[in-house]
Amino acid sequence: MASPSNVVAFGGAAGNESKPLPTLTLRESGVGSRESGFGSRESGVGNGEECRVKDLIARKRDGESLTADEWSHVVAAYVAEEIPDYQMAALLMATYANGMVHSEFTALADAMLASGERLPADGHAPWIDKHSTGGVGDKVSVVLAPLVASCGVPVPMMSGRGLGHTGGTLDKLEAIPGFRTQLSLKEVREHMDRIGAVMIGATEQMVPADKKLYALRDATATVEAIPLIAASIMSKKLAEGLAGLVLDVKRGSGAFLPKHQAGIELAQLIIEYGAARGCRCVALVTAMDRPLGFACGNALEIEEAIEALHGRGPADLMDLTYALGTEMLLLGGVVTNAKQGRQRLVDAIGSGRAADKFREIVEAQGGNPLVVDDPAVLPQARIHRVYEAPASGYVVAVEPRLIGEAVVAMGGGRNAMEDDIDPSAGVSITVKPGDTVNGGDAIASVYAADGRLAEIGLAALANGVRIAGEPPAEILPLVSHRVTADGVEELA
Ligand code: URA
Repeated sequence: MASPSNVVAFGGAAGNESKPLPTLTLRESGVGSRESGFGSRESGVGNGEECRVKDLIARKRDGESLTADEWSHVVAAYVAEEIPDYQMAALLMATYANGMVHSEFTALADAMLASGERLPADGHAPWIDKHSTGGVGDKVSVVLAPLVASCGVPVPMMSGRGLGHTGGTLDKLEAIPGFRTQLSLKEVREHMDRIGAVMIGATEQMVPADKKLYALRDATATVEAIPLIAASIMSKKLAEGLAGLVLDVKRGSGAFLPKHQAGIELAQLIIEYGAARGCRCVALVTAMDRPLGFACGNALEIEEAIEALHGRGPADLMDLTYALGTEMLLLGGVVTNAKQGRQRLVDAIGSGRAADKFREIVEAQGGNPLVVDDPAVLPQARIHRVYEAPASGYVVAVEPRLIGEAVVAMGGGRNAMEDDIDPSAGVSITVKPGDTVNGGDAIASVYAADGRLAEIGLAALANGVRIAGEPPAEILPLVSHRVTADGVEELA
């Protein structure tokens, strides 16, 4: 724990509706919104409203803010297909460029949440989930859901697919033969009551606004905006009926928001919004200047996550899992301090309870439960090539972006939502920045469907794993900050 002097107060009072939102889409709150005729439900947006939507776009373009009603009508009308993609794209770009004030953000997030069905938030023990802002080799969710559930905290783990250079938990889970990531709301409730965990994607009925808006943002270079990211994450998380959320905010060259301060601002926005909607949130800021663990690629990552459930995962994966898991147990109210939380997690792994819980989840969701004891059940790549260190020295970088992009190019990820993926493709890199190597040491492996694809992986390793005579100038601490409603603690 940091000393009180490390605790930095942040933000203004919650509910200050004219508070400007953080950087990237920040703008000063001085420019007010003006009446446009969209301010009431009666005025509507649909029914050939293109001209009036054009007026909203123009106002956002000119740095004005829209009213809460205007945002909720725009979102509802977009989901109802009364507003075309090109107008929504223009509005998003204007928002990206000029920012939102706080009342716009809450209206957007609320409207996205209201666009679909929600899991029940009451009548059960507090449900707790974890969300990562996205990384390379990040298989923590696969370990955490069964681990935390085996400690008595129910986890409705709802994840997404890989996009860009980052992997997605759903794609990883689908590497397990038969595993179903789409469950009905009725099935989710039944599995939560019986097993205490599900590992799923959003159902068709949940947060349709995020599905449409995220795809549009991805295609129009408007993803990296703090209020848009926060609204996207929280609309999905609140739809799960959560009582608490642990956010893993990545920083470093492989993160969506590489700058540390942007990650903190995102965390603060989410924490404040969650608190106002009955969901306690805590964030850890963690390193994504190198891949997490060794394995990058769907089946390889499942194998490594299962190793972690048996207590044999790489040190960084185990440490981050314990750090995030401890926060989940605290939010779930089954432990009262971090030391107890970590011990509970260590015991659940040591006793085999966590691996047993994963077996139960896999079986309940149609997957082959033998995977927990036999990784040969997973899809196997036809080609395996070993990569040797080209020189002796220090590893100064393992570039996550290059590695993540190579996995995608090898077929392990998708460029468009409808692309098929090869679950067996990937790389495994067993060195970390700061390690020393001898020229000729086997430091990585490439797994691919054919020799040409394997060459892509080998080339990425040659570019992305850098070796030099001096140690690296900076290696980010694995967990550097803890953000809560009380402020920001520096942990390292
Ligand atoms: N993850 C999300 O769920 N939404 C975003 O907008 C970005 C990352």
